[in-house]
Amino acid sequence: MTETTPHGTGSTTQAGIPAVSDRNSLTTGPNGSIVLHDHQLVETLQHFNRMNIPERRPHAKGAGAFGTFEVTEDVSQWTKADFLQPGKKTEMLARFSTVAGELGSPDTWRDVRGFALKFYTEEGNFDMVGNNTPIFFVRDPMKFPHFIRSQKRLPDSGLRDGTMQWDFWTQNPESAHQVTYLMGERGLPKTWRQMNGYGSHTYMLVNEQGEKFWVKWHFESQQGVESLSNEEAEHLAGADADIHRRDLFDAIERGEHPKWDLYFQIMPYEEAKTYRVNPFDLTKTWSKKDYPRHKVGTMTLNRNPENFFAQIEQAAFSPANMVPGTGNSPDKMLLGRTFAYADAQLYRVGTNFQQLPVNRPINEVHTYNFEGSMTYLHSGARRVYAPNSFGDSWSDETGPVDNGWEDDGALVREAYTLREDDGDFVQAGILVREVFDDAQRDRFVETVAGALDGVQEPVLSNAFQYWKNVDETIGQRIEDAVKVDAGASVPGMGVDEGESVNAPVH
Ligand code: HEM
Repeated sequence: MTETTPHGTGSTTQAGIPAVSDRNSLTTGPNGSIVLHDHQLVETLQHFNRMNIPERRPHAKGAGAFGTFEVTEDVSQWTKADFLQPGKKTEMLARFSTVAGELGSPDTWRDVRGFALKFYTEEGNFDMVGNNTPIFFVRDPMKFPHFIRSQKRLPDSGLRDGTMQWDFWTQNPESAHQVTYLMGERGLPKTWRQMNGYGSHTYMLVNEQGEKFWVKWHFESQQGVESLSNEEAEHLAGADADIHRRDLFDAIERGEHPKWDLYFQIMPYEEAKTYRVNPFDLTKTWSKKDYPRHKVGTMTLNRNPENFFAQIEQAAFSPANMVPGTGNSPDKMLLGRTFAYADAQLYRVGTNFQQLPVNRPINEVHTYNFEGSMTYLHSGARRVYAPNSFGDSWSDETGPVDNGWEDDGALVREAYTLREDDGDFVQAGILVREVFDDAQRDRFVETVAGALDGVQEPVLSNAFQYWKNVDETIGQRIEDAVKVDAGASVPGMGVDEGESVNAPVH
């Protein structure tokens, strides 16, 4: 997928001219000054200064691998997407990441993990840019930059800060469900191979007959789901900050190719109007009893990148990349995301980032967006405008779109009218009471209490109330544990005062 330069044939300058020396600058005598016309030295120093591109704003630290997605079942009743038809095999790329950490941060700091997939389909690239949790912290895209800034660093000291993190979460109570996941076992996956992935949002599928369905994507790890203890994670953050990156690369090198099974939860189009939770609210899951999962196929990661920078750092995933037979939904977060990613990549990688081999679709690109910095693929002398009278093709669909929905009303600033089971704390409470077992609840209390260490008032009291709103008993246990621990130093989420700023939650 990339063009490589030859090895072992002697080096050249970037213009391909035989290089004279990669070790010695040109000088006026061995003890003399270097000369400006040593073009190779100048080029070497110049290019070195330009090696970096901006890191991703969220999800900066990650790694990935290539693989194949194979459809093993027949899901054509729900979608006409070519790559989801029975027996179809599609080449793909996966990238896993932490959300808040920077490019060099430890893989084992407690965090949600990114689960980004690019399918190189014959109908163009389809990207599923998800996480290892089925929901998210907020339900309005306006809040996303505030959320990410609160999890990153203080403007003066450049330190991460628990008060800022908890202030954001407690000021935005819809975060409770996801924070419960984060403080539970999913916040510390043992490896990327041992975690599940979720599209999280509600997406659309459209079949050949034009029928529409709502869908949630679930990728279940065939390696099982395992997590680290706080102590293991803290140790690894120092002992091997790249442990997850290393684990994936080494496993693939050994021929142990990790696999995930894809399942769909399908909701009939009309039921979205009356289901007891708003199915477009990203802070909610759909009950598996109401909407059981249907297997679709299996993804296998079987090829490491040949070059990390070219194929992983410059990889550009976007929820806007959808092929026929798939679509968006009225989830406001998803709609916000369809703008945000390509915009970030135009800045981070450059105007023509989609021409890079890792981002280039396998089918023919025939766009009316031309030129710009670093243009590589071009269309010769094809007409640069449409419509035209000279037979250069263009598209002209008008009227209703097949993957649309009814959307009409006054302009408002409000993320959803809430339904029966839509309270911010309802599903978080169910998770704590009905999904966690006793041992998990004990670890949860310990983890949250550790993460609250050093948090200032009034945020600390707000946090106690936040957890009491989730579950009175668990909230009280957290408050008691924090008060017992007061004075005893418990490392926080890379944020503890007086302890290592890199320590994960205890
Ligand atoms: C990365 C924005 C919500 C998963 C990114 C990037 C941006 C962004 C700008 C960096 C892209 C790049 O530089 O290539 C947003 C906005 C959101 C949002 C504005 C909400 C409105 C979400 C949600 C999920 C998610 C809900 C998961 C369900 C990811 C992942 C990456 C990412 C996995 C890393 C992709 C990669 O590996 O390159 N996000 N995001 N984001 N986001 Fe989001």
